[in-house]
Amino acid sequence: MPGAAKRIAFIPGDGIGIDVTREALKCLEALRAARGTLLRCEVFDYGAERYLRDGTTLPPGEMERFRDEFHAIFLGALGDPRIPDMAHGRDILLAMRFGLDLYVNLRPVRLFFDRLTPLRGRTTQDIDFVVFRENTEGLYAGVGGFFKKGTPDEVAVNQDINTRKGVERIIRAAFEFARARGKRRVCMSDKSNVLRFAHDLWQRVFHEVAREFPDIEATHLYVDVLAMQMVRAPNQFDVIVTCNMFGDIVSDLGASLVGGLGLAASANLHPGRTSLFEPVHGSAPKHAGKDVANPMAAILTAALMLEHIGLPDDAAVVEGAVRRAIAEGKTTRDLGGELGTRAVGDYVASLIRAS
Ligand code: NAD
Ligand code: IPM
Ligand code: MN
Repeated sequence: MPGAAKRIAFIPGDGIGIDVTREALKCLEALRAARGTLLRCEVFDYGAERYLRDGTTLPPGEMERFRDEFHAIFLGALGDPRIPDMAHGRDILLAMRFGLDLYVNLRPVRLFFDRLTPLRGRTTQDIDFVVFRENTEGLYAGVGGFFKKGTPDEVAVNQDINTRKGVERIIRAAFEFARARGKRRVCMSDKSNVLRFAHDLWQRVFHEVAREFPDIEATHLYVDVLAMQMVRAPNQFDVIVTCNMFGDIVSDLGASLVGGLGLAASANLHPGRTSLFEPVHGSAPKHAGKDVANPMAAILTAALMLEHIGLPDDAAVVEGAVRRAIAEGKTTRDLGGELGTRAVGDYVASLIRAS
């Protein structure tokens, strides 16, 4: 691993991923200017343009190079209407989640200001939880196939892969996080009333692991009820742990409770290893290149990344700057402001520089 400077691989990717990554980089540069934070940011052009131009998704050996030579990877977003099957997304994003064994997809759902939630009467006290999404198996494993494709008798199968090891490590990570952060409750969400094999495993493992954490209250909700309760009474949650597909869905719902996808950050982690950080949102092609996307999710993702690579004070400065910009109404339109993507990035960077 390199010496003092933290080396970070940036993949802006596609659509608004490019717009928002530019602003995240701007904020990290401001951090260097203000605090001397040593970061070596290198930008890689993997994404739809490159794939369409020369067929490259992630070159052989690149993932291993990121793993061995970089402290973190930052991804803007992937997704392009010209590649409807998302082939490059599987090769870049999903391949790194699986290949680097980033089994925790951590997605904070935290309300910064009362006025940002669409839930009537709810305050910042009520909405502050974290989703622990399993990130290396489930329906995302890509196991399946077609039979008699294109005929009237076609069969299409995607297998839901749940391993003892995979289920246990995400559940344990959720409990360990709760304990380390002084959180009282872990809620596991599944559909064990229907998925009688796969989610029976989740039930058994959850109860077993919960016994190791008697200081943490272990609760369970079926995922349909979870969706309802997240809206009805989000104050009951500290940590939610769930499978890959359910976690994908509830993380967008969670984002909508706290101001939308323009504020939602996420981390793909394997504790102790080089991990991947990305906003929850996608490439939103209709907003791409128009200076309208909210860069705050990407900037908050950069803060999450700084925290995880051992720079918590720098992370706090970046998050504080975003909070202040929101408080002052220096935001894009999705948050009620009038600024463009670049102007928001400039403003947040100026607050960091003045810190
Ligand atoms: P999306 O998250 O890109 O956008 C949905 C809507 O949310 C947008 O139309 C926009 O109104 C809003 N939005 C999202 N991010 C915003 C931001 N930063 N600022 C303001 N508004 C924002 O989801 P989609 O439209 O379903 O997907 C578009 C493409 O992105 C697809 O190809 C999808 O597969 C891909 N995708 C990629 C990732 C990723 O790379 N991590 C995540 C989700 C979706
Ligand atoms: C996310 C995205 C991805 C997922 C897609 C782009 C593969 O929606 O990171 O939430 O489903 O995990
Ligand atoms: Mn998603």
